[in-house]
Amino acid sequence: MKRYEKFADEIADLIRSGVLAPGEKVPSVRHASRTYGVSPSTVFQAYYLLEDRGLIQARPRSGYFVREHARRRLPEPEISPRLSETTDVDVSELVFSVLASLRDPHTVPFGSAFPSPDLFPLQRLARSMAHTVREMPGREVVAEMTTGHPDLRRQIALRYMVSGVMLSLNELVITTGAMEALNLCLQVVTQPGDLVAIEAPAFYATLQVLERLKLKAVEIPVHPRDGIDLGTLESRLSSLPIKACWFMSSLQNPLGASMCEGNKEKLYALLQHHQVPLIEDDVYAELYFNQEPPKPVKSHDRDGWIMHCGSFSKSLAPGYRIGWVAGGRYAEQISRLKLMTTISPSVPAQAAIADYLQHGGYDRHLRKLRHALERQQGEMLASAARHFPASTRVTRPSGGYFLWFEFPERVDSLQLLQLALAQGISLAPGPIFSATRRFRNCARLNYGHPWDERSEKAMELLGRIVKSF
Ligand SMILES: Cc1ncc(COP(=O)(O)O)c(C=O)c1O
Repeated sequence: MKRYEKFADEIADLIRSGVLAPGEKVPSVRHASRTYGVSPSTVFQAYYLLEDRGLIQARPRSGYFVREHARRRLPEPEISPRLSETTDVDVSELVFSVLASLRDPHTVPFGSAFPSPDLFPLQRLARSMAHTVREMPGREVVAEMTTGHPDLRRQIALRYMVSGVMLSLNELVITTGAMEALNLCLQVVTQPGDLVAIEAPAFYATLQVLERLKLKAVEIPVHPRDGIDLGTLESRLSSLPIKACWFMSSLQNPLGASMCEGNKEKLYALLQHHQVPLIEDDVYAELYFNQEPPKPVKSHDRDGWIMHCGSFSKSLAPGYRIGWVAGGRYAEQISRLKLMTTISPSVPAQAAIADYLQHGGYDRHLRKLRHALERQQGEMLASAARHFPASTRVTRPSGGYFLWFEFPERVDSLQLLQLALAQGISLAPGPIFSATRRFRNCARLNYGHPWDERSEKAMELLGRIVKSF
């Protein structure tokens, strides 16, 4: 990471944590250069970058100021409450009915699980698809089905290497999206009736997979900023026969929480001590706002306990259904289970993504995508501060495209969804993220679509509905 990028990240962290408030002047170039011992051109470059990320703006002859989207900020939510020890999972019907109600393409898509397709290089990807399919030797279409297309596996391993994780190619299995990877991992390490530690709140599909496989959930609270509560996890691992953990250590869905490096290392030590595997769901890994990618728990994996699952669905190619798992000591079993079920994701789709990764400018696309998402996050936070009740709490994640709102206790988000849908606005209500249908007064909102007048109006309307409870 270059010096100016590091300096920009330090300032961004001060803005995100509220030390530098909206409207406040950031240190002048001369002052910053003297105080932090960096050259004026480093400060200038950092400020240009922060301007591009939508965090500060220049005022003629006055210097740089934190963007004043709104006069006030909403506070952050606190840690989620203590939970029962173990629970059966029975949420699938609720999840399906909510997801069905979000499908109308005419609604403002705050409930969507994807960012806007306009943010993806779909035309460029189509060129890679056309080119690779035209050139593909007939033999390759059937020969490369087992563990995955060799070029794609090599490109993925290279990306791990650049982010500081050394992988053997033998560990990598390409799958039909991360969803297949996550399912296979869980099936390899559990039997019906086993206990699995999951997050609370958790990605709703995690709950559905546990329900389908007849597994019991041990819910571990997630701090909205710092991630999994390691104290609770430690005591549950000591007192219960947990067979596997399924966690997101960075940019958790729905909270956006990311564990710090130290806690990821502690988590690994804990798992290693109890000899419990971790299924690490890291599908938002590429959508971090700061310059350095967060390292996964996998980067500490010395003994193969971590099955690290990734995907191109959120960062490059939604609909191509290409994901993967670096399966550690379970890679062979995962690969065999895949051969017994889906055999392989589409070989042409794999080849197209491999070609794009090699020639298409993935890193350039990601930089643009991250900046767009960070700017849109600023817009939604500011709009919420303008229109939602002052007692609303909201997360401030350092990446991804979701905000988690905690409304006043009296607000019922399932009812809120119905009222919002009637006005053409969708949202993801809190109870679909909980094995025990908690988080009734919470909702996840998606800011992955370019911000416009319609988004602003929708926030104003939502605010009015929330106040009517
Ligand atoms: C946390 C999380 N994990 C996994 C997935 C599934 O990813 P894929 O589309 O690659 O199957 C999603 C998609 O919504 C997700 O949000």
